[in-house]
Amino acid sequence: MNKIIAVALIAVFICSCSAVDSKEQGKSNWKPEMDQPSELASIMRSLNDEALIRKKSLENGELSQANSKLIFKMITAEPTEPHMVGPAFAPHTEAFIASYGQLNTATDVAAQIDAHNNLVKSCVACHMNFCQGPIPRIEKLYVNI
Ligand code: HEC
Repeated sequence: MNKIIAVALIAVFICSCSAVDSKEQGKSNWKPEMDQPSELASIMRSLNDEALIRKKSLENGELSQANSKLIFKMITAEPTEPHMVGPAFAPHTEAFIASYGQLNTATDVAAQIDAHNNLVKSCVACHMNFCQGPIPRIEKLYVNI
């Protein structure tokens, strides 16, 4: 009986995390259909948008500025469901903030592409633990060289 409940809970968790991705597919001007994303979800959307813009500019051979203050709010931001963050969340956030800092110390495009791709790796690393739904979407942020 307990097993059934656990499986049901996991299913709900995975669905709530991946729903966003399936709705988004094929629409470039996708807007969330839920009225109020959580604080953490809106930070994530901005980080995702920012990374897309940076990817474009790097592909055009231009350095891009990264100065989002949002990342410092990640540790305390409210998630949609409390189980979306856990004990490993803060260390992942700190690793992420460290990778993010490297974007600004890069002085040429090749170095910034490296820093950008490392950052995307830390997005994926945290998502493996906490929210797997958006991973295919995050992997599109890699700049291929
Ligand atoms: C420290 C862990 C962590 C890191 C690092 C992280 N995320 Fe997330 N992300 C989450 C969690 C947890 C959620 C679920 C938030 C919620 O629904 O409240 C989420 C949600 C998302 C979503 C779905 C938001 C929505 O519309 O509901 C996207 C897209 C996303 N992240 C992209 C990214 C990108 C891109 C990066 C790197 C630039 C990144 N994430 C880094 C933990 C993380």
